[in-house]
This record gives sequence, C-alpha cells and structure tokens, in this order.
Amino acid sequence: MYRITVLLVLLSAMCHVALSTTTDGLLPNGNFEYGPKASQMKGTVVKDPNAIPNWKISGFVEYIKSGQKQGDMLLVVPEGTFAVRLGNEASIKQKVKVTKDMFYSLTFSAARTCAQEEKLNVSVSPNSEPNDWGILPMQTVYSSNGWDSYSWGFLAEASEIEISIHNPGVEEDPACGPLIDSVALKVLITPKRTRENMLKNGNFEEGPYVIPKASWGVLIPSHIEDDHSPLPGWIIESLKAVKYIDSDHFSVPEGKRAIELVAGKESAIAQVVRTTVGKYYALSFSVGDAGNSCAGTMGVEAYAGLDNIKVPYESTGKGGSKKAVLKFKAVSTRTRIMFLSTYYNMKSDNSGSLCGPVIDNVKLLGVRTRRRV
Ligand SMILES: *[C@@H]1O[C@H](CO)[C@@H](O)[C@H](O)[C@H]1NC(C)=O
Repeated sequence: MYRITVLLVLLSAMCHVALSTTTDGLLPNGNFEYGPKASQMKGTVVKDPNAIPNWKISGFVEYIKSGQKQGDMLLVVPEGTFAVRLGNEASIKQKVKVTKDMFYSLTFSAARTCAQEEKLNVSVSPNSEPNDWGILPMQTVYSSNGWDSYSWGFLAEASEIEISIHNPGVEEDPACGPLIDSVALKVLITPKRTRENMLKNGNFEEGPYVIPKASWGVLIPSHIEDDHSPLPGWIIESLKAVKYIDSDHFSVPEGKRAIELVAGKESAIAQVVRTTVGKYYALSFSVGDAGNSCAGTMGVEAYAGLDNIKVPYESTGKGGSKKAVLKFKAVSTRTRIMFLSTYYNMKSDNSGSLCGPVIDNVKLLGVRTRRRV
C-alpha cells in the first residue's frame, strides 16, 4: 500500500512538471481575454491585484475593450477583444513554469495611446545579476495600425520564474500609457557554426516568437546586452530596433524568417567571428524587400573587418531579392561582420511607417585566393 502511494505521488509529480512547463506560444491568458468581474473595476480601472486571471497587477492598470474610445481615438486590440493599459508605475506579472538554464524570448504587442515618449521595463525574477532589466522604448513608427510587437531574451535561472512588464513612466495623465496584448514565450536554441557556415544563425531561422495574428513582424530592440538578445548569434548594434519578419506575412528571401533593417544607418546587426590573419573569406548574403509596400531605392552595406561592400537594391515593394558577395582578407583573429541600411525608407501606403531592405541567408566561408566565389 505504502509503495503504491509513493509511486502515485511520484507519477503525479512527474505529470505535473511535464504538463505545466510552458511551451512556445501565448502565456496562460496572455491575450487578456479573461478579465476582471465588474465588481473589481471602477470604470476601466482594475481595482483588485488578482482580478485578471493568471496575472498579478499593480498600479494604474486599465482593462480595455476593443472599440473603446479615448477622446477621438478608437482603441483597437490586435488579438481577441481585450487588452490592458499600463498607466503610471503600473505593472503586470505572471509566474510561469519553464526549464531551468534554457534561454527564452519574450514577445508582446504594445501600442502607444498618447503623444509622449513611452518606455516599458521588462524583467524576470529570479535573476542573479543586479539591475538586469530591459528598457524598451515604444515606437509607433513601424506599423500602420499603431501596434508593434517587441521581444527580449533571458536565461531561466529557476524552473519557476516571474515575468514582469512595467511602465516606469510618471505622466501628468495617469491614463497615458501603452496598451499591452499577446504576451508569449519561446525557447531559444543557439544554432552552432557548421562546415557550411562560420556564422551562427546566418539564416535568422532562430529568433523570437512571432505571434501568428501579428502581421507587423517583431521588433528586436537595440542596446540590449548580448545575453538579452532574442536573435541568437547576433548583436543589434545600433540606436534603433531591427525587425524580425516571417514568411506568413512578408516576402522572405530564404526559409521562414529574415531581418528587415527598418531604421536606415541607425539599424545595424553584427556578429564577431574567429578568422585567420592573411586568409581569404567570402561573405555572401541576400538583399531584398519584404513585399510590404516599401518601394524605392534601397541599399545594404556589409562590413567585414576593414572591407565593405554597398549593395544597391531597387524595390518595387512587392518582394524579391538578389545575392551579393564580399570577399576579404582577414587582418585580425576576430572579424566583425556587420550589416546596415544606407537609406531611410518609408512605406508608400501613406502610413508614414519606416521600413527598409531585408537581409537573409548570410554565409561566411574561407576561400582560396584565386578561386572565384
Ligand atoms: C524595472 O523593473 C524591475 C522589476 O520590477 C525593478 O526592480 C526595476 O527597478 C525597474 N527599473 C526601472 C528603471 O524602472
């Protein structure tokens, strides 16, 4: 009898762990479709910290229904019918079961509702590093409907973690704060270098979770430390974000994912790779457009150590790509490979949204001096 009980307890513990660990996708109630009871709200303001199922809230949090008006503005919600708005010093937190020591990326959608510059502070606990959070500036310039998706990477230091999204702002109007919807997690696997490619994740297939209903891609913020990059292998080496795009919603040169350099010269990605001084290498890549009405003259600049190449690309905004190669002689044991967009491009759909060239299929290989590449 005792043995059976022990076995049952063990089995149920195992099942519990197996079933409750988060898989790639939305967090439980990650799109806020389950909301507070009427008695837990005053107008749109949520009054009880536990009123939104699966979440713990603090500060000025509003529960917003799609179609609700704010002044002259109609608030739209990207996924389902509801979203939350984080006012001054407001935060939402959720505890999730994860696999300890794995890297994860957090993706969520956000929209600004006031003219002020807004920022969100994302963090995860436990975290052995002090002051280790991400401040993500909210920008409305990238999508046509006001919503953008943002991503951030982290290492799970325990099998249960708490994710926090916090608006550190202190505005005169406490209701001025970003709307949040579709909070999702994905495990990140760092691809290895191979015989075919000295670069990691050169085809960008590994990256943040793309929300199936979000047709505007996922922004990978700049100035985040390497250990918070949701794009394994790559550093976002610029003032502005780059955009992670998927073949379900965009034209992508190869595979399912690529990078759109959306902010001109302020939008750059880089990777440092070990090289042999005096040896020749070929850096090949595809340059194209995402098929998102981003028409006009585009240009991608590729750098490898001291060498560079400018690749012009005439975009019709309907998708397409071409290949380019930069051949160089390594002058150092570590070579920095970097890509940036020469021009600032804007969509031709009157949205004023920034856009730019797409890069994909980046490969680095050693070559013999005389061999053609
Ligand atoms: C960011 O959020 C974390 C966790 O809530 C908090 O400890 C930290 O002080 C916040 N940072 C800023 C700059 O608001």
